[in-house]
Amino acid sequence: MTTPYAQRRAEVARQIGRDGIAIVPTAPERPRNRDADFPYRHDSYFYYLTGFTEPNAWLVITGDGRSTLFCAPKDLEREIWDGYRLGPEAAPAALGVDEACSSAELDTRLPRLLENRGTVWFPFAIHAGLESRIDGWLGSVRARVRYGALCPASQRDLCGILDEMRLVKDAHEQDIMRRAAQISAQAHVRAMQTCARMLRAGRDVREYHLDAELLHAFRQDGSQFPAYGSIVAAGANACVLHYRADAAPVRDGELVLIDAGCELDGYASDITRTFPANGRFTGPQRALYDLVLASQHAAVAATRAGARFNDPHDATVRVLAQGMLDLGLLDGNKVGGLDDVIASRAYFAYYMHRTSHWLGMDVHDCGSYVEPGEVGDGSVRQDPLSGETITDRPSRILRPGMVLTIEPGLYVRPGTDAPEQFHGIGIRIEDDAIVTAGGCELITRGVPVEAGEIEALMR
Ligand code: GLY
Ligand code: MN
Ligand code: MN
Repeated sequence: MTTPYAQRRAEVARQIGRDGIAIVPTAPERPRNRDADFPYRHDSYFYYLTGFTEPNAWLVITGDGRSTLFCAPKDLEREIWDGYRLGPEAAPAALGVDEACSSAELDTRLPRLLENRGTVWFPFAIHAGLESRIDGWLGSVRARVRYGALCPASQRDLCGILDEMRLVKDAHEQDIMRRAAQISAQAHVRAMQTCARMLRAGRDVREYHLDAELLHAFRQDGSQFPAYGSIVAAGANACVLHYRADAAPVRDGELVLIDAGCELDGYASDITRTFPANGRFTGPQRALYDLVLASQHAAVAATRAGARFNDPHDATVRVLAQGMLDLGLLDGNKVGGLDDVIASRAYFAYYMHRTSHWLGMDVHDCGSYVEPGEVGDGSVRQDPLSGETITDRPSRILRPGMVLTIEPGLYVRPGTDAPEQFHGIGIRIEDDAIVTAGGCELITRGVPVEAGEIEALMR
């Protein structure tokens, strides 16, 4: 049976051409402090092509379709301390590669593999020191040119090929992403319910208590890690976009914003919910919440194959900007009507991020946001706020199997010109969408999003 990994390696071999060679290292282990390392996370490109999660490994693909894995050799002494290693003897059967060698042999084997190839492909600007390592191997090839060896004459960025492949998720990937999304949705449900229950019991609730609920739910359902640092922001902390779960008290009457998603088998999920700590929205909270939700509905309606990546964002901005005028966050006498607010980007005072990003193995996944065939069709404009010169290029045309987040928000920091009743309210609602022919599949709706449903869940 051909695995998805073998199919992807074959596709890379096809795209680099007969005289090409591709080199893909996995991620290094990274020290945290003294002799303790950060939890190990493989490189996403490497994993995409191998399904192999051990450190100290490299993949080489040649244009004739052969793949060679370099991995840590078996070492019973080290394995007593650090754990099981697959080892090169077992790797071909386990991973479907044609050949496997010890990573200790990289420096002797790579020059021979590079010899007589035209182009060497590797991921540019990702692995510190990779270029100089490749330079060293190319130097060894060059030392043999007198004996008739040919040295690769060009180097190309393998990310160009792999990013396009990773952008459209195959059935195997979509299945894992649905499961990751389901685990994360349950974790949000758990955190919401725990929050209301603890407050009702008169307990001191801190942001870290809710973070602990998320971690418990992730691990309990088999996720390996959070896909990114969880944001658990009580009250006005929600207006800090990259706030992390900390120790602030979660107060009765305030909102809590949680942006958290698990990683499952190498794939991320990314959910944000904003909910009232005690389970009941106040009037001003509900007014802003319903506005953000309406803008998300508009974005979801704009997400379908054939639409542009920017369409959900533009739909969001129209709804949010009109709501800002209606609710008095923006004064129409000063900023004009809806089209003026959009043209001047006056809405940026309360909505300062984009609505979507690609999602996949990396939470901000790879893949160009510009439609490849239209890169030359850019138009230059002056940004009304920063004065910077910006080149707008036609944004990506969505295709079935692309996965993106849809995450509008509103952030009314204390001290802004907004009516006092909205100060300190920060709201974001984020779901993950798989693009389909006629629309999109929201894979994160295992946690409710309508205000009434959230209140019912927390009762
Ligand atoms: N959690 C990261 C993001 O929403 O982009
Ligand atoms: Mn996101
Ligand atoms: Mn997020």
